[in-house]
Amino acid sequence: MISLVQENDFDRLFEIEQQAHLVPWTKGTLLNNQGERYLNLKLSADNQIVAFAICQKVLDEATLFNIAVAPQAQGKGYGKQLLAELIEQLKQQGILTLWLEVRQSNSTALNLYTSLGFNEVDIRKNYYPTTDGKRENAVVMALYL
Ligand SMILES: CC(C)(COP(=O)(O)OP(=O)(O)OC[C@H]1O[C@@H](n2cnc3c(N)ncnc32)[C@H](O)[C@@H]1OP(=O)(O)O)[C@@H](O)C(=O)NCCC(=O)NCCS
Repeated sequence: MISLVQENDFDRLFEIEQQAHLVPWTKGTLLNNQGERYLNLKLSADNQIVAFAICQKVLDEATLFNIAVAPQAQGKGYGKQLLAELIEQLKQQGILTLWLEVRQSNSTALNLYTSLGFNEVDIRKNYYPTTDGKRENAVVMALYL
């Protein structure tokens, strides 16, 4: 089941955030990324949140800031379902372009985005920090809705 993220979901969202990401957001960053300009969705399975997406809207464009699926729930189609629903809702709200950035090494996420029609539009060199103190490129992708 997919629905809007509520204020009291953030403890669970932070748990997923820490488990799913190499360099997770802080709880503060997560909490700051909500409000009127956001379309934030969660996906629940067996009454537990297993995935979320954080998306900011500005005029007729939107940016996917974060998408994460709990590790034990990955590879079951939840990420794709959630992103497809987000895209549908953005379309209904008159958004024309959805942007995102992803680590070049994150082939799972790159496959997900490509499978939903995103195109690579730019590379940002050495954009992300890595756990071994180096830097890694970001791939900038866009989907025209
Ligand atoms: C990236 C992520 C959101 C994908 O969600 P998911 O539920 O695991 O993925 P799904 O099962 O919905 O699969 C979606 C697509 O991803 C790709 N994919 C999934 N698992 C994969 C794997 N192990 N290897 C390569 N590609 C894979 C496939 O293209 C798949 O599409 P298909 O089934 O039509 O072929 C999830 O794995 C995740 O949370 N990863 C950690 C956090 C992250 O990297 N977030 C994205 C950057 S912000």
